[in-house]
Amino acid sequence: MSSENAGGAVKSMDAIMSLCKRRGFVYQASEIYGGINGFWDYGPLGTLLKRNLREAWWQDVVMNPCWGRKGPTGERVSVLPIETRLIQHPKVWKASGHVDGFNDPMVDCRATKGRYRYDHVMVYVPESGDAGNKPVFAYVGDQPSEKSQKKLAEKTFGAIKSVALSSLPQPWDRVIAPDADQPGTLTPPRQFNLMFHTYVGALATEDDKAYLRPETAQGIFVQAKNVWDTNRVKVPFGIAQVGTSFRNEVTPRNFTFRSREFEQMEIEFFCHESEAMQWYAHWRDWRMEWWKSIGLAGENLILREHEQDELAHYSKATSDIEYRFPFTAPGFGELEGVAYRGNFDLSQHQKHSGAKLEYNDPTRGEILPNGARRGERYLPHVIEPSAGLDRGVLAILCEAYTKDESRPSPEFMKFHPRLAPIKAAVFPLVDKEGMPEIAEKLHADLSAKFGRLGFIETDAKQSIGKRYARMDEAGCPYCFTIDGETLTNQTVTMRDRDTGAQHRVAIDEVASILTDKLNG
Ligand code: GAP
Repeated sequence: MSSENAGGAVKSMDAIMSLCKRRGFVYQASEIYGGINGFWDYGPLGTLLKRNLREAWWQDVVMNPCWGRKGPTGERVSVLPIETRLIQHPKVWKASGHVDGFNDPMVDCRATKGRYRYDHVMVYVPESGDAGNKPVFAYVGDQPSEKSQKKLAEKTFGAIKSVALSSLPQPWDRVIAPDADQPGTLTPPRQFNLMFHTYVGALATEDDKAYLRPETAQGIFVQAKNVWDTNRVKVPFGIAQVGTSFRNEVTPRNFTFRSREFEQMEIEFFCHESEAMQWYAHWRDWRMEWWKSIGLAGENLILREHEQDELAHYSKATSDIEYRFPFTAPGFGELEGVAYRGNFDLSQHQKHSGAKLEYNDPTRGEILPNGARRGERYLPHVIEPSAGLDRGVLAILCEAYTKDESRPSPEFMKFHPRLAPIKAAVFPLVDKEGMPEIAEKLHADLSAKFGRLGFIETDAKQSIGKRYARMDEAGCPYCFTIDGETLTNQTVTMRDRDTGAQHRVAIDEVASILTDKLNG
């Protein structure tokens, strides 16, 4: 699992995962019990990194939406926050379509007990003609089976091509499953609902069955009318929520990319149908800019507009913001979807709950003979920018990971200063001659000023080179070192993580320099 990134350096997923473990970004959940598939914990640095990403989204989406830019129809963009529960009334998920339709088809291998998403299984077949009575070789992309099956297929057929398993007629008597020895071990596909369920109350009968939310969005839809009825807000406006979702993924994999518990950052933006396509374009373009602003730049980030045949029946337009993860390279994996969902969700909830969810728009509708406006009643249309927080953290980790053998610290994390879990480090060059005391004071001052943004580190042990290397690996953008010269002219060395360049700055300017750098 490796890829060439824009800068030409090879990024290996194994190296990224190993640094994440070593430096306390990400740990396997319940690791001492052997782990639990599809669940990941964050260590101290990972927790801060994730918090900083969540906070950046919150700040730019809710507190100062779209950086204060006007919307396409000339008004300030307005977004309100909400926090809804992980467990909703089960009818919410019936109305949303998740009970009946949130399924992944899976196939099992009777021999190896492997389980695969049906739509992920590919088969190597001869490039031309059919395989006759020879076996054909099934594999799953990015998995070791891809290479080993390819070798066997080439040995059997010479020139080969890949086709989807679904294109072969069943039963698959001649298909050798990934990692199997004999053909014919794959079961027919079965539908598997991705929602986790539980029981509410002590009796735990089927009537008490409830679901852990598979997305935060439906909580927003079911409270939308309460929000517009109880706040001084009018359409167009958005409601934003960040929180945990659960999906019992058939094949969780690729580190945290497809997890069974993860956080989403979702916006439902409500508008009049006549303005929906403009708002769609606004959110699509701004969300792309936003990801760039926090460090996902260059060729690794793309915007992919869905083809007509990819759209859900209620969607008039959808695009995905995709990142080139090392395990998807040279392809891309979804980071955020921006969908124009019509008024599908509100109309479903109106139908299933019996509650009237129409919005009465005082700015539209017919003018009465007395000059007053009647107001237009309608179910607002919705633009939904829906991003994965954990997937965002993973993209940031992959983008930040940099290897440069010419440096004393060959591996370093090039986090955008806004996201860096450690904002700065203060070191005494040696642990004597009054330097520790000066470092201690500077550390305390910076912690008081910047502590709400991230850690300010200090450390007097080991050589200064080793201390810099530790900070580089943790992605700390700036180090300030107190040395002999500090004692005479009150200047310190400021070292830049990305270039390794050092220059002297006055000690009493460090705080304002850091403010500029962290805001820049
Ligand atoms: N309400 C729309 C919705 O949930 P989605 O495309 O299923 O849309 C939105 O999910 C985002 O949530 C994805 O773009 C991805 O970043 C993240 N996501 C979805 N499933 C995930 C999983 N199993 N693990 C981690 N992140 C996931």
